[in-house]
Amino acid sequence: MNKIPECLIHPISIKLIRSGHPWITADNFSNRFPKTSEFVIAMDDRKRPMALLIHDPNHKNVKARVWTTKYPFEPETQHFTAGLQARLDLAIEKRIQDVTLKERENFYLVFGEADQLPGLFILKLQNRILIQFFTSFWNKYKSIIQTTVQEIFPDIKDENIWFQMRGETRELQKLPINAADSGRRDEFHIQEFGLQYLIRLGSSYDHGLYTDMSSVRFTLKNFINPETKVLNLYCYTGAFSLWAMKLGAKQVTSVDLSPKYIEWLQQNLGLNPELNSAQHEALTMSAEEALVKLRADEKKFDFIICDPPSSSSDGEKRTSAIKSYKDLISKMDKILNPKGHMVIFLNTHQVSGPKYEKTIQDILGELKLNYKLSLRLTLGQDCPTLKGFPEGNYLKGLVLEKL
Ligand SMILES: C[S@@+](CC[C@H](N)C(=O)[O-])C[C@H]1O[C@@H](n2cnc3c(N)ncnc32)[C@H](O)[C@@H]1O
Repeated sequence: MNKIPECLIHPISIKLIRSGHPWITADNFSNRFPKTSEFVIAMDDRKRPMALLIHDPNHKNVKARVWTTKYPFEPETQHFTAGLQARLDLAIEKRIQDVTLKERENFYLVFGEADQLPGLFILKLQNRILIQFFTSFWNKYKSIIQTTVQEIFPDIKDENIWFQMRGETRELQKLPINAADSGRRDEFHIQEFGLQYLIRLGSSYDHGLYTDMSSVRFTLKNFINPETKVLNLYCYTGAFSLWAMKLGAKQVTSVDLSPKYIEWLQQNLGLNPELNSAQHEALTMSAEEALVKLRADEKKFDFIICDPPSSSSDGEKRTSAIKSYKDLISKMDKILNPKGHMVIFLNTHQVSGPKYEKTIQDILGELKLNYKLSLRLTLGQDCPTLKGFPEGNYLKGLVLEKL
Protein backbone atom coordinates (compact mmCIF):
# COMPACT_ATOMS: atom_id res chain seq x y z
CA MET A 1 0.00 0.00 0.00
CA ASN A 2 1.20 3.53 -0.79
CA LYS A 3 2.34 5.64 2.10
CA ILE A 4 -0.44 7.87 3.36
CA PRO A 5 0.34 11.54 2.76
CA GLU A 6 0.94 13.60 5.89
CA CYS A 7 -0.53 17.08 5.52
CA LEU A 8 -0.57 20.15 7.70
CA ILE A 9 -4.06 21.38 8.48
CA HIS A 10 -5.43 24.83 9.23
CA PRO A 11 -4.87 26.06 12.83
CA ILE A 12 -8.65 26.28 13.28
CA SER A 13 -9.04 22.67 12.11
CA ILE A 14 -6.44 21.62 14.70
CA LYS A 15 -8.51 23.25 17.43
CA LEU A 16 -11.77 21.83 16.13
CA ILE A 17 -10.50 18.27 15.84
CA ARG A 18 -9.16 18.52 19.41
CA SER A 19 -12.63 19.51 20.57
CA GLY A 20 -14.24 16.52 18.83
CA HIS A 21 -15.29 18.13 15.55
CA PRO A 22 -14.85 15.54 12.78
CA TRP A 23 -14.74 17.72 9.62
CA ILE A 24 -12.04 19.46 7.63
CA THR A 25 -13.69 22.11 5.49
CA ALA A 26 -12.29 23.72 2.33
CA ASP A 27 -9.36 26.06 3.04
CA ASN A 28 -5.82 26.77 1.82
CA PHE A 29 -4.56 23.66 3.58
CA SER A 30 -7.25 21.11 2.70
CA ASN A 31 -7.45 22.29 -0.92
CA ARG A 32 -3.83 21.16 -1.25
CA PHE A 33 -4.33 17.61 0.05
CA PRO A 34 -3.14 15.24 -2.75
CA LYS A 35 -6.25 14.75 -4.89
CA THR A 36 -5.74 11.04 -5.53
CA SER A 37 -5.27 10.02 -1.90
CA GLU A 38 -8.09 8.15 -0.29
CA PHE A 39 -6.71 8.86 3.18
CA VAL A 40 -4.74 11.76 4.62
CA ILE A 41 -2.92 12.02 7.91
CA ALA A 42 -3.60 15.40 9.50
CA MET A 43 -0.50 16.95 11.09
CA ASP A 44 -0.63 19.64 13.77
CA ASP A 45 1.47 22.83 13.74
CA ARG A 46 4.37 20.94 15.32
CA LYS A 47 4.17 18.32 12.58
CA ARG A 48 2.80 15.63 14.88
CA PRO A 49 0.22 13.26 13.34
CA MET A 50 -3.15 14.00 14.96
CA ALA A 51 -5.87 12.30 12.92
CA LEU A 52 -6.50 9.86 10.10
CA LEU A 53 -8.89 11.45 7.61
CA ILE A 54 -11.08 9.98 4.90
CA HIS A 55 -10.67 12.24 1.91
CA ASP A 56 -13.26 13.70 -0.50
CA PRO A 57 -11.47 16.20 -2.76
CA ASN A 58 -14.58 16.72 -4.92
CA HIS A 59 -16.86 17.79 -2.08
CA LYS A 60 -17.47 21.54 -2.17
CA ASN A 61 -17.28 22.17 1.57
CA VAL A 62 -16.20 19.11 3.53
CA LYS A 63 -12.87 17.99 2.11
CA ALA A 64 -12.14 15.32 4.71
CA ARG A 65 -13.64 13.66 7.78
CA VAL A 66 -11.94 12.20 10.83
CA TRP A 67 -11.81 8.41 10.87
CA THR A 68 -9.73 8.14 14.02
CA THR A 69 -7.47 10.18 16.26
CA LYS A 70 -5.96 7.04 17.81
CA TYR A 71 -2.37 6.63 16.73
CA PRO A 72 -0.83 4.62 14.95
CA PHE A 73 -2.76 5.24 11.72
CA GLU A 74 -1.07 2.86 9.24
CA PRO A 75 -2.75 -0.28 10.65
CA GLU A 76 -6.11 1.53 10.54
CA THR A 77 -5.82 1.96 6.78
CA GLN A 78 -4.42 -1.54 6.23
CA HIS A 79 -7.43 -3.00 8.04
CA PHE A 80 -9.89 -0.34 7.01
CA THR A 81 -12.56 -2.78 5.82
CA ALA A 82 -12.51 -4.69 9.10
CA GLY A 83 -12.74 -1.42 11.03
CA LEU A 84 -15.67 -0.30 8.90
CA GLN A 85 -17.48 -3.59 9.47
CA ALA A 86 -16.88 -3.39 13.22
CA ARG A 87 -18.30 0.13 13.38
CA LEU A 88 -21.32 -0.88 11.30
CA ASP A 89 -21.95 -3.90 13.53
CA LEU A 90 -21.74 -1.79 16.66
CA ALA A 91 -24.10 0.93 15.41
CA ILE A 92 -26.67 -1.54 14.08
CA GLU A 93 -26.52 -3.78 17.15
CA LYS A 94 -27.30 -0.73 19.35
CA ARG A 95 -30.54 -0.12 17.43
CA ILE A 96 -31.51 -3.79 17.43
CA GLN A 97 -31.17 -3.85 21.24
CA ASP A 98 -33.17 -0.64 21.71
CA VAL A 99 -36.67 -1.69 22.78
CA THR A 100 -38.04 1.83 22.24
CA LEU A 101 -37.53 1.38 18.49
CA LYS A 102 -39.82 -1.64 18.37
CA GLU A 103 -42.89 0.55 17.74
CA ARG A 104 -41.47 1.80 14.46
CA GLU A 105 -40.66 0.11 11.19
CA ASN A 106 -38.52 3.11 10.26
CA PHE A 107 -35.36 3.94 12.10
CA TYR A 108 -31.73 4.79 11.52
CA LEU A 109 -29.28 1.92 11.79
CA VAL A 110 -26.35 4.29 11.35
CA PHE A 111 -26.35 8.04 11.96
CA GLY A 112 -23.11 9.28 10.48
CA GLU A 113 -20.51 11.05 12.57
CA ALA A 114 -22.26 10.25 15.86
CA ASP A 115 -21.74 6.54 15.07
CA GLN A 116 -18.09 7.13 14.08
CA LEU A 117 -19.12 6.52 10.46
CA PRO A 118 -18.65 10.00 9.02
CA GLY A 119 -20.98 10.93 6.17
CA LEU A 120 -22.68 7.51 6.21
CA PHE A 121 -26.35 7.16 7.16
CA ILE A 122 -28.37 3.95 6.93
CA LEU A 123 -32.13 3.72 7.35
CA LYS A 124 -34.24 0.65 7.87
CA LEU A 125 -37.63 1.14 6.26
CA GLN A 126 -39.48 -2.07 7.12
CA ASN A 127 -37.68 -4.70 5.00
CA ARG A 128 -35.89 -2.12 2.85
CA ILE A 129 -32.52 -0.57 3.56
CA LEU A 130 -31.61 2.93 2.39
CA ILE A 131 -27.87 3.66 2.50
CA GLN A 132 -27.11 7.37 2.22
CA PHE A 133 -23.70 8.83 1.42
CA PHE A 134 -22.92 12.45 2.25
CA THR A 135 -19.39 11.93 0.91
CA SER A 136 -18.47 10.09 -2.27
CA PHE A 137 -15.63 8.47 -0.30
CA TRP A 138 -18.05 5.63 0.48
CA ASN A 139 -18.72 4.74 -3.16
CA LYS A 140 -15.75 2.40 -3.15
CA TYR A 141 -17.12 0.56 -0.09
CA LYS A 142 -20.68 0.08 -1.34
CA SER A 143 -20.54 -3.70 -1.52
CA ILE A 144 -18.81 -4.09 1.91
CA ILE A 145 -21.50 -1.91 3.48
CA GLN A 146 -24.29 -3.79 1.72
CA THR A 147 -22.88 -7.21 2.66
CA THR A 148 -22.38 -6.23 6.29
CA VAL A 149 -25.99 -5.05 6.56
CA GLN A 150 -27.28 -8.20 4.85
CA GLU A 151 -25.24 -10.39 7.20
CA ILE A 152 -27.10 -8.79 10.09
CA PHE A 153 -30.47 -8.92 8.29
CA PRO A 154 -30.21 -12.06 6.10
CA ASP A 155 -33.86 -11.73 4.96
CA ILE A 156 -33.21 -8.48 3.14
CA LYS A 157 -32.77 -9.17 -0.55
CA ASP A 158 -30.62 -7.17 -3.00
CA GLU A 159 -33.70 -5.60 -4.62
CA ASN A 160 -34.58 -4.07 -1.27
CA ILE A 161 -31.25 -2.31 -0.86
CA TRP A 162 -31.04 1.31 -2.00
CA PHE A 163 -28.16 3.75 -2.27
CA GLN A 164 -28.45 7.51 -2.31
CA MET A 165 -26.00 10.37 -2.61
CA ARG A 166 -27.11 13.28 -0.44
CA GLY A 167 -25.70 16.64 0.48
CA GLU A 168 -26.15 20.32 0.82
CA THR A 169 -25.12 21.18 -2.69
CA ARG A 170 -27.34 20.41 -5.66
CA GLU A 171 -24.78 18.17 -7.37
CA LEU A 172 -24.81 15.88 -4.32
CA GLN A 173 -28.60 15.53 -4.24
CA LYS A 174 -29.52 12.37 -6.12
CA LEU A 175 -32.50 10.03 -6.17
CA PRO A 176 -32.11 6.71 -4.35
CA ILE A 177 -30.83 3.99 -6.72
CA ASN A 178 -31.73 0.35 -6.30
CA ALA A 179 -28.82 -2.06 -5.76
CA ALA A 180 -30.23 -4.78 -8.02
CA ASP A 181 -31.87 -2.71 -10.78
CA SER A 182 -30.97 0.96 -11.22
CA GLY A 183 -34.28 1.70 -13.00
CA ARG A 184 -36.41 0.26 -10.20
CA ARG A 185 -39.02 2.27 -8.33
CA ASP A 186 -40.67 0.99 -5.21
CA GLU A 187 -43.85 1.85 -3.30
CA PHE A 188 -44.77 0.19 -0.03
CA HIS A 189 -46.33 0.90 3.36
CA ILE A 190 -44.60 1.14 6.71
CA GLN A 191 -45.90 1.34 10.21
CA GLU A 192 -44.99 3.94 12.84
CA PHE A 193 -46.76 4.09 16.23
CA GLY A 194 -49.68 2.09 14.79
CA LEU A 195 -50.08 4.25 11.66
CA GLN A 196 -49.43 3.26 8.06
CA TYR A 197 -47.47 5.51 5.69
CA LEU A 198 -46.81 5.30 1.97
CA ILE A 199 -43.09 5.25 1.15
CA ARG A 200 -41.68 5.84 -2.31
CA LEU A 201 -38.14 4.93 -3.24
CA GLY A 202 -36.49 5.75 -6.55
CA SER A 203 -38.89 8.53 -7.58
CA SER A 204 -38.16 11.40 -5.21
CA TYR A 205 -35.28 12.74 -3.16
CA ASP A 206 -37.12 12.23 0.15
CA HIS A 207 -39.15 9.06 0.56
CA GLY A 208 -42.23 10.36 2.37
CA LEU A 209 -41.53 10.19 6.09
CA TYR A 210 -38.88 12.02 8.10
CA THR A 211 -37.44 9.33 10.33
CA ASP A 212 -35.22 11.82 12.14
CA MET A 213 -38.45 13.39 13.49
CA SER A 214 -40.02 10.14 14.72
CA SER A 215 -38.90 10.57 18.30
CA VAL A 216 -40.14 14.17 18.26
CA ARG A 217 -43.53 13.02 16.97
CA PHE A 218 -43.74 10.59 19.85
CA THR A 219 -42.85 13.26 22.42
CA LEU A 220 -45.59 15.58 21.17
CA LYS A 221 -48.26 13.07 22.15
CA ASN A 222 -48.36 14.70 25.58
CA PHE A 223 -49.83 17.88 24.05
CA ILE A 224 -52.74 16.33 22.18
CA ASN A 225 -56.04 15.12 23.62
CA PRO A 226 -59.66 14.85 22.38
CA GLU A 227 -60.21 18.59 22.97
CA THR A 228 -57.25 19.69 20.84
CA LYS A 229 -57.66 21.44 17.51
CA VAL A 230 -54.44 21.07 15.55
CA LEU A 231 -52.94 23.10 12.71
CA ASN A 232 -50.02 21.47 10.87
CA LEU A 233 -48.16 24.02 8.72
CA TYR A 234 -45.67 22.79 6.09
CA CYS A 235 -47.27 19.38 6.62
CA TYR A 236 -45.45 17.46 3.82
CA THR A 237 -47.08 13.99 3.69
CA GLY A 238 -48.91 14.60 6.96
CA ALA A 239 -46.99 12.58 9.54
CA PHE A 240 -47.81 15.04 12.36
CA SER A 241 -51.44 15.33 11.17
CA LEU A 242 -52.06 11.58 11.18
CA TRP A 243 -50.37 11.23 14.53
CA ALA A 244 -52.56 13.99 16.01
CA MET A 245 -55.66 12.25 14.62
CA LYS A 246 -54.53 8.93 16.04
CA LEU A 247 -54.18 10.64 19.44
CA GLY A 248 -57.82 11.67 19.13
CA ALA A 249 -57.48 15.37 18.24
CA LYS A 250 -60.88 17.01 17.71
CA GLN A 251 -59.96 18.59 14.37
CA VAL A 252 -56.76 18.68 12.26
CA THR A 253 -55.95 21.18 9.50
CA SER A 254 -52.93 20.48 7.27
CA VAL A 255 -51.28 23.05 5.04
CA ASP A 256 -48.70 22.59 2.29
CA LEU A 257 -47.86 24.51 -0.84
CA SER A 258 -47.32 21.33 -2.83
CA PRO A 259 -50.35 19.54 -4.37
CA LYS A 260 -48.16 16.44 -4.72
CA TYR A 261 -47.58 16.24 -0.94
CA ILE A 262 -51.22 17.01 -0.09
CA GLU A 263 -52.24 14.13 -2.35
CA TRP A 264 -49.67 11.90 -0.66
CA LEU A 265 -51.15 12.92 2.70
CA GLN A 266 -54.62 11.95 1.46
CA GLN A 267 -53.24 8.56 0.42
CA ASN A 268 -51.74 8.18 3.89
CA LEU A 269 -55.14 8.97 5.41
CA GLY A 270 -56.69 6.33 3.16
CA LEU A 271 -54.24 3.76 4.53
CA ASN A 272 -55.58 4.33 8.04
CA PRO A 273 -59.34 3.75 7.92
CA GLU A 274 -59.64 3.96 11.72
CA LEU A 275 -58.91 7.71 11.46
CA ASN A 276 -61.96 9.89 10.92
CA SER A 277 -61.23 11.83 7.70
CA ALA A 278 -64.21 14.08 8.38
CA GLN A 279 -62.12 15.63 11.17
CA HIS A 280 -59.34 16.53 8.73
CA GLU A 281 -59.05 19.47 6.36
CA ALA A 282 -56.23 19.94 3.84
CA LEU A 283 -55.30 23.33 2.41
CA THR A 284 -53.05 23.45 -0.65
CA MET A 285 -51.57 26.91 -0.29
CA SER A 286 -48.68 28.70 1.33
CA ALA A 287 -48.54 28.72 5.12
CA GLU A 288 -48.58 32.52 5.08
CA GLU A 289 -51.78 32.60 2.98
CA ALA A 290 -53.39 29.87 5.07
CA LEU A 291 -52.76 31.81 8.27
CA VAL A 292 -54.51 34.85 6.80
CA LYS A 293 -57.41 32.76 5.52
CA LEU A 294 -57.88 30.86 8.78
CA ARG A 295 -57.99 34.13 10.70
CA ALA A 296 -60.52 35.60 8.27
CA ASP A 297 -62.62 32.44 8.72
CA GLU A 298 -62.36 32.97 12.52
CA LYS A 299 -60.78 29.55 13.05
CA LYS A 300 -58.95 28.92 16.33
CA PHE A 301 -56.43 26.21 17.28
CA ASP A 302 -54.91 24.78 20.44
CA PHE A 303 -51.79 23.31 18.90
CA ILE A 304 -49.91 24.65 15.88
CA ILE A 305 -46.97 22.81 14.33
CA CYS A 306 -44.72 24.93 12.15
CA ASP A 307 -41.89 23.15 10.33
CA PRO A 308 -40.73 25.32 7.43
CA PRO A 309 -37.93 24.37 5.02
CA SER A 310 -34.67 25.91 6.26
CA SER A 311 -34.75 28.33 3.35
CA SER A 312 -37.33 28.96 0.67
CA SER A 313 -37.70 31.03 -2.45
CA ASP A 314 -40.74 32.86 -3.80
CA GLY A 315 -39.11 32.92 -7.22
CA GLU A 316 -37.40 36.25 -6.53
CA LYS A 317 -35.68 36.16 -3.20
CA ARG A 318 -34.50 33.48 -0.76
CA THR A 319 -35.71 33.76 2.82
CA SER A 320 -34.36 31.71 5.70
CA ALA A 321 -36.86 30.11 8.08
CA ILE A 322 -35.50 32.08 10.99
CA LYS A 323 -36.14 35.39 9.17
CA SER A 324 -39.72 34.44 8.37
CA TYR A 325 -40.51 33.60 12.01
CA LYS A 326 -41.45 37.16 13.03
CA ASP A 327 -44.29 37.23 10.53
CA LEU A 328 -45.26 33.59 11.13
CA ILE A 329 -45.36 33.89 14.93
CA SER A 330 -47.42 37.08 14.72
CA LYS A 331 -49.93 35.35 12.41
CA MET A 332 -50.00 32.07 14.37
CA ASP A 333 -50.61 33.96 17.60
CA LYS A 334 -53.81 35.44 16.17
CA ILE A 335 -55.40 32.03 15.71
CA LEU A 336 -53.98 30.25 18.78
CA ASN A 337 -56.24 29.88 21.81
CA PRO A 338 -54.98 31.02 25.24
CA LYS A 339 -53.05 28.18 26.94
CA GLY A 340 -52.50 26.75 23.43
CA HIS A 341 -49.06 25.72 22.17
CA MET A 342 -47.07 26.42 19.05
CA VAL A 343 -44.17 24.15 18.07
CA ILE A 344 -41.68 25.97 15.94
CA PHE A 345 -38.93 24.03 14.22
CA LEU A 346 -35.69 25.13 12.69
CA ASN A 347 -33.99 22.62 10.45
CA THR A 348 -30.46 23.91 10.01
CA HIS A 349 -27.11 23.62 11.71
CA GLN A 350 -26.29 27.19 10.75
CA VAL A 351 -28.08 28.60 13.79
CA SER A 352 -27.19 27.11 17.17
CA GLY A 353 -29.85 26.10 19.70
CA PRO A 354 -29.12 29.03 22.06
CA LYS A 355 -29.04 31.52 19.14
CA TYR A 356 -32.38 30.21 17.89
CA GLU A 357 -33.94 30.53 21.33
CA LYS A 358 -32.59 34.06 21.76
CA THR A 359 -33.92 35.09 18.32
CA ILE A 360 -37.37 33.75 19.17
CA GLN A 361 -37.36 35.45 22.59
CA ASP A 362 -36.42 38.73 20.85
CA ILE A 363 -39.23 38.27 18.31
CA LEU A 364 -41.74 37.60 21.10
CA GLY A 365 -40.49 40.76 22.87
CA GLU A 366 -40.80 42.89 19.73
CA LEU A 367 -44.30 41.57 19.09
CA LYS A 368 -45.14 42.07 22.80
CA LEU A 369 -46.38 38.48 23.06
CA ASN A 370 -46.43 36.55 26.30
CA TYR A 371 -45.28 32.95 25.82
CA LYS A 372 -43.50 30.44 28.02
CA LEU A 373 -40.96 27.95 26.69
CA SER A 374 -42.48 24.56 27.62
CA LEU A 375 -40.07 22.18 25.93
CA ARG A 376 -37.01 21.98 23.70
CA LEU A 377 -37.01 19.30 20.99
CA THR A 378 -33.88 17.85 19.40
CA LEU A 379 -32.72 14.76 17.59
CA GLY A 380 -32.88 11.66 19.76
CA GLN A 381 -33.04 7.88 20.09
CA ASP A 382 -31.73 6.41 16.83
CA CYS A 383 -30.37 9.84 15.79
CA PRO A 384 -27.64 10.66 18.31
CA THR A 385 -25.59 13.85 18.27
CA LEU A 386 -21.92 14.40 18.95
CA LYS A 387 -20.45 16.89 21.41
CA GLY A 388 -18.42 19.52 19.57
CA PHE A 389 -20.18 18.87 16.24
CA PRO A 390 -23.03 21.37 15.77
CA GLU A 391 -23.50 20.41 12.10
CA GLY A 392 -24.87 17.05 13.23
CA ASN A 393 -27.32 18.73 15.61
CA TYR A 394 -29.46 20.37 12.95
CA LEU A 395 -32.96 19.85 14.30
CA LYS A 396 -34.27 22.36 16.83
CA GLY A 397 -37.83 22.64 18.03
CA LEU A 398 -39.34 24.91 20.65
CA VAL A 399 -42.75 24.30 22.21
CA LEU A 400 -44.16 27.67 23.29
CA GLU A 401 -47.21 28.01 25.51
CA LYS A 402 -49.46 31.04 25.12
CA LEU A 403 -49.96 32.62 28.53
C1 LIG B 1 -39.37 20.23 6.09
S1 LIG B 1 -40.78 19.75 5.17
C2 LIG B 1 -41.88 19.53 6.51
C3 LIG B 1 -41.86 18.15 7.10
C4 LIG B 1 -43.07 17.78 7.91
N1 LIG B 1 -43.25 18.68 9.02
C5 LIG B 1 -42.99 16.36 8.43
O1 LIG B 1 -42.64 16.17 9.59
O2 LIG B 1 -43.25 15.43 7.67
C6 LIG B 1 -41.24 21.25 4.44
C7 LIG B 1 -42.57 21.26 3.64
O3 LIG B 1 -42.90 22.63 3.41
C8 LIG B 1 -43.55 22.76 2.16
N2 LIG B 1 -43.47 24.20 1.82
C9 LIG B 1 -42.42 24.91 1.35
N3 LIG B 1 -42.71 26.22 1.32
C10 LIG B 1 -43.97 26.36 1.80
C11 LIG B 1 -44.82 27.46 2.05
N4 LIG B 1 -44.43 28.70 1.82
N5 LIG B 1 -46.04 27.21 2.58
C12 LIG B 1 -46.45 25.95 2.85
N6 LIG B 1 -45.68 24.88 2.63
C13 LIG B 1 -44.46 25.06 2.12
C14 LIG B 1 -42.85 21.79 1.27
O4 LIG B 1 -43.68 21.41 0.19
C15 LIG B 1 -42.55 20.63 2.25
O5 LIG B 1 -43.57 19.68 2.19
